Amino acid sequence: MKVLFVCLGNICRSPAAEGTFRHLCQSQGTEQRFSCDSAGTAAYHIGKAPDERMRRAAKARGIHIDNLQARQVCSADFYEFDVIVAMDHSNMANLRAVRPTDATSRLVMMLDYPQAPVEEVPDPYYGGDEGFYEVLNLLDQACRHLHGQYS
Ligand code: 4NP
Repeated sequence: MKVLFVCLGNICRSPAAEGTFRHLCQSQGTEQRFSCDSAGTAAYHIGKAPDERMRRAAKARGIHIDNLQARQVCSADFYEFDVIVAMDHSNMANLRAVRPTDATSRLVMMLDYPQAPVEEVPDPYYGGDEGFYEVLNLLDQACRHLHGQYS
């Protein structure tokens, strides 16, 4: 099962989702069954490590994302991954706009499950530190849900 997490810049939400999901798979012993990656719809931050604020917030939870590098979503992703997971409605609209017509990946929203407290994972980039912790809380719940759904 191959999962691609997607946000706008691939430096805050989606690398944190990738790290959270990988950490969960390691703790559940399901690393053989799942693999994951992340990407951004925009090209602004290609090659960069995740935002320092998200790296710090993730590290406080035992999740290490320092070595990830931002990349942009590409056409091949729509065949390579079983599921592509958008953080917000804008990411979803951007993905739909570049999705090849014969793509095989499923496109889903990160928080599209009944118990989710909100519909979108908010963009923490222009806010304070608490926004990064809030994103990690949302991602933690959503990753558990996604993991359970495909286990
Ligand atoms: P992300 O956050 O989509 O969660 O990686 C953002 C990162 C950068 C920008 C916007 C959102 N930016 O405008 O540069």
